[in-house]
Amino acid sequence: MAFVSMRQVLDEAAQGGYGVGAFNVNNMEQIQAIMEAARETKSPVIIQASRGARKYSNDRFLYHLMLAASELYPEIPTVMHLDHGNSVATCKSAIEMGFTSVMMDGSLMEDGKTPSTFEYNVKVTREVVEMAHAKGITVEGEIGTLGGIEDGHGAGVDSLAHVTDPAQAEEFVKLTGLDALAVAIGTSHGAYKFSTKPTGATLKMDRVIEIHKRLPNVHLVMHGSSSVPKELQDVINAYGGKLKPTWGVPVEEIQLGIKNGVRKVNVDTDSRLAITGAIRRVFWEKPEEFDPRSYLSPARDAMKQVIIQRMTQFGQAGHAADYQPIPPSEMAKRY
Ligand code: 13P
Repeated sequence: MAFVSMRQVLDEAAQGGYGVGAFNVNNMEQIQAIMEAARETKSPVIIQASRGARKYSNDRFLYHLMLAASELYPEIPTVMHLDHGNSVATCKSAIEMGFTSVMMDGSLMEDGKTPSTFEYNVKVTREVVEMAHAKGITVEGEIGTLGGIEDGHGAGVDSLAHVTDPAQAEEFVKLTGLDALAVAIGTSHGAYKFSTKPTGATLKMDRVIEIHKRLPNVHLVMHGSSSVPKELQDVINAYGGKLKPTWGVPVEEIQLGIKNGVRKVNVDTDSRLAITGAIRRVFWEKPEEFDPRSYLSPARDAMKQVIIQRMTQFGQAGHAADYQPIPPSEMAKRY
């Protein structure tokens, strides 16, 4: 199956009332873990790469790994998405490379750190929408600013400092014409999101509900949505790790979001935790090992298990065969 646009996958998800995990990758094992999980659960997938991932793996490696994934898993509708593009040029290079979806994160300036103005955000997002839609490529934008810093990207602000204003979200969608809207509701990237289990005061699900009421036909995106399960933290700490106690986004809150217009759920940290725990365990139990396959295989399997859980919990499981991919040229005509 060819790659599909994210717009088609999210439209299908909206029709079916489910969410789709968008899982970050940097290397072959992570792509394999996601594709295997998708096959086992019969799920459509969104695989996303940040600027950091593109730099780490090199665009050409990444592209050809993704091409291999689409050849080897022909039954899985697969989206290749740019996570947190920092500029029009970054989005343009991703589209030229073969990504079927891009995020223009104009909530921050090009440095990926400084919160921007509404006007700047509208301008750069609109520019990317015009460029991408002409080729049938999907665009995600962001309004409000997430907390934390990950991969060098983020304002490092308190997660509640810039939560999305619903009226501004409505205006932003009208002015940009984007396909998917990332909202800031108190989450942040990385493992340290909340110092206790989140409540309505720290995780603003009421914002999602209000934004969905105002924009019932817009696909909402939750970033920073790893659940940071205690079991995964415990494995790391049992084998020499030193994670401090921390809480992520509970799966039931994500499911509440999915009932209220959230169609794309970004997960990176949970995969990282699973991989690290599995590798630590091999190093701890078999210090004589030095074949990378002896620790990368369990790492890949541990990530696959987390992804299977998320695909099932978000509801995308069982939906891979629901639709035929629409080629980008046809998508372009629909805009
Ligand atoms: P987590 O750090 O919660 O996995 O979030 C990832 C993300 O939002 C990528 O854009």
